[in-house]
Amino acid sequence: MAKQSYRIIALPGDGIGPEVVGSALVVLDAVKELFHVDFEVEEIACGGHYYAEHETEWPEGSFEKCESADAILLGAVGHEIDGKPVFTKPGKPYPEPQLAGFAQVIGNRKKLDLYANVRPVKLYPGVKHKIHGNLVQVWDPDKVDYVVIRENTEDAYTGEVETIEGGRVTPIRITRAATERVTRYAFNLARRRNRQKKVTCVDKSNIIGAHRFFRDVFREVGEKEFPDLTLDYAYVDAFCQWQIRSPEWFDVVVGPNLVGDIVSDNGATTAGGLGLAVGGNIGDEHGMFEPIHGSAPKHAGKDKANPLAAILAMQMMLDWLAARYADDRLAGAALKVEAAVAAVLKEGKTLTYDLIGEERASKCSEVGAAVAEKLRLML
Ligand code: IPM
Ligand code: MN
Repeated sequence: MAKQSYRIIALPGDGIGPEVVGSALVVLDAVKELFHVDFEVEEIACGGHYYAEHETEWPEGSFEKCESADAILLGAVGHEIDGKPVFTKPGKPYPEPQLAGFAQVIGNRKKLDLYANVRPVKLYPGVKHKIHGNLVQVWDPDKVDYVVIRENTEDAYTGEVETIEGGRVTPIRITRAATERVTRYAFNLARRRNRQKKVTCVDKSNIIGAHRFFRDVFREVGEKEFPDLTLDYAYVDAFCQWQIRSPEWFDVVVGPNLVGDIVSDNGATTAGGLGLAVGGNIGDEHGMFEPIHGSAPKHAGKDKANPLAAILAMQMMLDWLAARYADDRLAGAALKVEAAVAAVLKEGKTLTYDLIGEERASKCSEVGAAVAEKLRLML
């Protein structure tokens, strides 16, 4: 049932995170006003810069707040001091150093059981690509529209590491339970999209035994429960070149965690770059939405970064909340926010440097304001 008010935890994080999340929240404010939905947003400082000051990645009780929120909006994590990334110290609170800020990304994904990482690869009309320093249109917008579903809890991301003589070993773990639920998610999505009704399993099963198991479970679930869909298979190395050469082949793509990490960035190349790429970390009870770019320390504090990925992440959050709470206002808002972003892209005037070059570039905050303004004009 639709709620009176939705509780959102915003985790701006490091670098350009606070700027892009700030722009997404400006658009969310417009949604509040125009669609008469209330959002109670709490921002929690976190990430590497927070660790550098406090020796903990966020204030105590922050995870519990994420757990009880209706949705989480994440910026980016990763902080540098004198050009060096900030790592945690052993014992505080991890057994060995890791990049500070992982509590938000990897921790939340695991602890909130956000098993499907949903990463659309969709090229909006008007978007150009920077090739050899020039802005050109390479891909046809009608031909780039698929969704990568990345398994989000295991594969090479278990955090396990064993020291052996002369080196280290990190396992690749694939379980039936995690594979069944993520492949089911992908198959159901292909049905809902109702386009090619095709799901491509991407893995390295020709060499990695655990990936062979992923592929077997994919086949089993698909053949048994989704006879109306086409099952398709690709090895990740070959898939990377097809993504660039023939993106129109794909509809829904599913793969193990590390494979999904790589192919989603690669796919972003054909859809305007990381400044436009979005990920929804989705489980049965929780959702966390984020731009898939990093914290880009060298651009931080300049009001220069592209906020559209963060705005589209917020849009995905609205869409997810709409389905979860059967809230038509949010479903309408999600459609309109996407249309407003598409309109700003098509107009090609108020965009950041990555999309129109340094000379004509608008600021991050100006792009956020332009989307909010478009939204107001549409209603
Ligand atoms: C992503 C990022 C993360 C990942 C990093 C920051 C751990 O690259 O969300 O894609 O590898 O999952
Ligand atoms: Mn990544």
